[in-house]
Amino acid sequence: MLRDKEMKIEEISAATSLSQYAVKVLLEASLSIGTVLVDPEKDTYSLSKVGWFLLNDPATRVNVDFVHDVNYEGFFRLEEALNEGRPAGLEHFGDWPTIYEALSSLPDQVKRSWFGFDHFYSNSSFDEALEIVFSLHPSRILDVGGNTGLWARQCVAYDPKVEVTIIDLPQQLEMMRKAVAGSAGADRIHGRPMNMLSPDAAFPDDLDPDVIWMSQFLDCFSEEEILSILTRISKIMRPETRLCIMETFWDRQRFEPAAFCLTMTSLYFTVMANGNSKMYHSDDMIRLIDAASLEVESIHDGLGQGHSILICKTK
Ligand SMILES: C[S@@+](CC[C@H](N)C(=O)[O-])C[C@H]1O[C@@H](n2cnc3c(N)ncnc32)[C@H](O)[C@@H]1O
Repeated sequence: MLRDKEMKIEEISAATSLSQYAVKVLLEASLSIGTVLVDPEKDTYSLSKVGWFLLNDPATRVNVDFVHDVNYEGFFRLEEALNEGRPAGLEHFGDWPTIYEALSSLPDQVKRSWFGFDHFYSNSSFDEALEIVFSLHPSRILDVGGNTGLWARQCVAYDPKVEVTIIDLPQQLEMMRKAVAGSAGADRIHGRPMNMLSPDAAFPDDLDPDVIWMSQFLDCFSEEEILSILTRISKIMRPETRLCIMETFWDRQRFEPAAFCLTMTSLYFTVMANGNSKMYHSDDMIRLIDAASLEVESIHDGLGQGHSILICKTK
């Protein structure tokens, strides 16, 4: 339906091939939630502003697709997940300990919506993040949880010399290699498989990165796991190394609906992702950074759709 187009029930029914009964119940529900307007004199309906944004705002689209395709059915298991601390809803798709092992095997539509959601948020901040990260003049970047290599590709395109090594689960590195193949600078993108949840898994000490990059990564873990990862990462940091943590902190948003989206996203982590992680308050993250013998040197807020970058160094 076009924003300024008014249509009668019969016209909508003809355009959608739905019965007039079906159109009527949907329109009445839409009136109640404010997505359509009615002109009682002409007996016509049109989209409201809210309805127009629901259909056209890119953030709303990725959020709605994510809720519908990834979460909706699994959320029947919310109570179980809260009680047991495991992603009970993930069983809707199969048998994996967390959604990260599942990503490469999810049904296509679910995969599209998961990656659409993930990439939309991180991508929106990459341009500003590149300026911040490259102001540190890195020669070697370690991209922890680098997923399909989107950030790595932007880095090698931004700087003709920089080398980027992605650490992630083996399944993700396979997807990454296919995704970066043939792109400019792909020979400077490397992969190291690692399951960071294994508390004994040490980060590689032969890479000597100047910048360690973690984007939308630490929110995949519980506080205990974050502390373990940060403690292990601190062991490969020199005094000059900078750890850049890019996250969406719900307390550092400019607009209340953004904080709403983030606290609701925490419930996806509870039921579908892993049962124990969340979108964090920045105070909690800074406390964990401190406990890992690191300190926050500076904070950049308001990137893209609401990211912050915490730049950290060893104490
Ligand atoms: C939410 S995605 C973020 C991807 C990317 N950095 C971005 O900004 O869009 C989190 C990444 O962490 C990886 N990850 C999650 N658990 C992991 C684990 N136990 N070991 C290694 N990587 C893991 C996932 O495979 C995924 O690529």
